[in-house]
Amino acid sequence: MSALKFAGRAERIKASPIREILSVSNRPGMISFAGGLPAADTFPEVDALSFEKGDLQYGPSEGESYLREYVAADLKKAGWQVSADQILILTGSQQGIDLVGKLFIEKGTEVAVASTTYLAALQVFSLYGADYVPFDVDSVNDAIAQTKPAILYANPTFQNPSSEVYTLQQRQSVAYACEENGSLLFEDDPYRELCYEPCERQPICSMTSHGSWVYQSTFSKTVAPGLRIGYLVCSADLYPKLLMLKQASDLHTSRVAQRLVMNILHNEDLAIRLEKLRHKYKAKRDAFDQSLHKHFSHLAAWNKPSGGLFFWLTLNSDKNIDTRQLLGAAVESGVTFMPGEPFFADGRTASSCFRLNFSGASTDDYDEGLRRLAVIFEKQMLEC
Ligand SMILES: Cc1ncc(COP(=O)(O)O)c(C=O)c1O
Repeated sequence: MSALKFAGRAERIKASPIREILSVSNRPGMISFAGGLPAADTFPEVDALSFEKGDLQYGPSEGESYLREYVAADLKKAGWQVSADQILILTGSQQGIDLVGKLFIEKGTEVAVASTTYLAALQVFSLYGADYVPFDVDSVNDAIAQTKPAILYANPTFQNPSSEVYTLQQRQSVAYACEENGSLLFEDDPYRELCYEPCERQPICSMTSHGSWVYQSTFSKTVAPGLRIGYLVCSADLYPKLLMLKQASDLHTSRVAQRLVMNILHNEDLAIRLEKLRHKYKAKRDAFDQSLHKHFSHLAAWNKPSGGLFFWLTLNSDKNIDTRQLLGAAVESGVTFMPGEPFFADGRTASSCFRLNFSGASTDDYDEGLRRLAVIFEKQMLEC
C-alpha cells in the first residue's frame, strides 16, 4: 500500500488548544475559566425558536437578504454607512478568518499581528503558511512601512486575549498604515457590543477612504454561539472573491440558523438584549475582579477589562513560566484556564501569562475556582 501524501499545509495544522481544553471543561463539576463561552442563562428561550419550511431549501451564498439588511441597519446605527450588498453572512466569524487566509496567504506571506493575538486566527494563518510581523500599535506605521505585509490583522476592541482597546488615535494610525502601505486591513470585532465602561469603539474600517479592508463580527457573543452566525463587510474589490471562496467552502450558511437569529432579534430588540447582557457581564466582571484580588494579588498583575469576556494575567516572577505546564494540575483540581503561550505569534514557549474567562462560569464558583488555581500557581512560582 502506498503512503498517503498530504498537502504541505497539512503539516502546519496544529490542534486548537482551546478546543482540547473545552472538551475537559464540559466534564461534570469542572469550573471553566478557559473558553470564551457566553453565560448559558443569557441564551434565548428555546420555545421561541422557529423557522419556515422554505428555509429547508438551498439558499443564496451571500446569506439571507433580511439578515444582510438587518446587519447594514445595525452598522448604520453605529454611525457607519454600508450597503447590504457588501455583507456576506458567515458560518461563524471564524469562517471569515479562513476565507481571508485562503484569499491572501500562501507560504511566506507576511501577516502583521499584535503582540498577543486570538489563537484561532494564528492557527488559520499558520496553516496557510503565514510569516508574522509583530506590530506595536503606537509605532504601527514604522512596522508596516518597513515590511509592507499583505495583511494587518487587528482585534482592536476588547482584544482576545488582552481585552485591550485602541484609542481613536491608534485606530487612525492603523487605518493610515494599511492604506499608505497597501496592506489589507482585517478587523475582527466580536466583542464590540460587550462594553462596560465608555471607550472608543469606532470600527477602524469605517475610517478608511481608499485601500482594501475586511471587517467582521458575529452573533456568537450577543445571541448564541451554537447558531454559528457571523458576517463580514468588505471593500468592493474583495467581495466577489470572498463570495466565491464562501461558495466553494460551504455553498451557504445554514438558512435555518439565519432565520433563528432573525426571529430571536424580532422577539427581543437587540438594543434591549445588549443592555441586559452588559448589565449582567459588568456585575460578573466586578465579582471576578474581587475574587482575583483575594487570591491572586500577590501572584500576578492584571488590568480590569472595560469590556469583552477576559482577564489577562501576568505572573509576578523573574523567570518566564510556561503556563501550559500548570494546566494538568489545574484540571486535576477541577478548574480549567487558558495558558498564554498559544496567543503569541512568535512561538515563545514560556510567557508567564494566562487568560481567564469570567462569563461562562457561575459567580458562585469564582472564589473556589480561583483559590484552587492560586494554590497551583503559587507552588510553581516557589519551585522556580
Ligand atoms: C477574536 C475572535 N474572532 C473570532 C472568533 C470566532 O467567533 P465565531 O466563529 O463564534 O463567530 C472569536 C471567538 O471567540 C474571537 O474571540
